[in-house]
Amino acid sequence: MKNVKLVNHALLQHSLTILRDRSTGTEAFRHHTAIVSQILLMHATKNMKVMEKNIQTPICSTHGHEISRSMVFVPVLRAGISMLFPARDFLPWTPVGFIGLERDEETAVARQYYQKFPNKIDNKTIFVLDPMLATGGSVSDTITRLKEKGARKIKVICIVSAPEGIKYINKHHPDVAIITSAIDDHLDEKKYIVPGLGDFGDRYFGT
Ligand code: PRP
Ligand code: URA
Repeated sequence: MKNVKLVNHALLQHSLTILRDRSTGTEAFRHHTAIVSQILLMHATKNMKVMEKNIQTPICSTHGHEISRSMVFVPVLRAGISMLFPARDFLPWTPVGFIGLERDEETAVARQYYQKFPNKIDNKTIFVLDPMLATGGSVSDTITRLKEKGARKIKVICIVSAPEGIKYINKHHPDVAIITSAIDDHLDEKKYIVPGLGDFGDRYFGT
């Protein structure tokens, strides 16, 4: 597996365990999704460009930094919405593109039902937000659509990834980095991640 950053942090391990626990209810599931997403986003944006900026503190003038506004978030509907709220809290001005994909329950192949991306994305860093990277089909389709619109710099942020999904993205999009809090063991016969956390969207939205 290449181009994958497995983020390790005590808070992340704690929150991820709560997400995995089948007895966790919707409220706690949402709360810990936000924590995990923000830690992952901090790592994903670690080397983003910053500009020097002069400011006045109440005491004197000094210089600080301002992060470049050159990012776009693309949550994969529906479950990716869960990562958009915490990302927006960090970088509230960031444009957002949407893609709607839903896996067929029998074949696990994703069907696209929606797409709306901001206009000029060729010079932006795109962060694809999808909590689950299973076969990799949904994220790969998203990257393909973004590249068709001119995107050249794409990073994927996933909470739980399967080795199968990482290898699939490596093969079809070797230029794309994946930032994740877990690389799990394998996919089961229904293409669910093992041990995973079940159906993320159903647990997050309470459906
Ligand atoms: C889930 C998940 C990913 C996808 C991962 O979405 O949020 O988008 O499955 O699977 P893949 O890597 O095999 O494509 P799902 O299709 O269940 O739709 P939802 O977000 O509406 O729940
Ligand atoms: N989508 C999920 O929500 N969970 C999985 O384990 C795989 C795909």
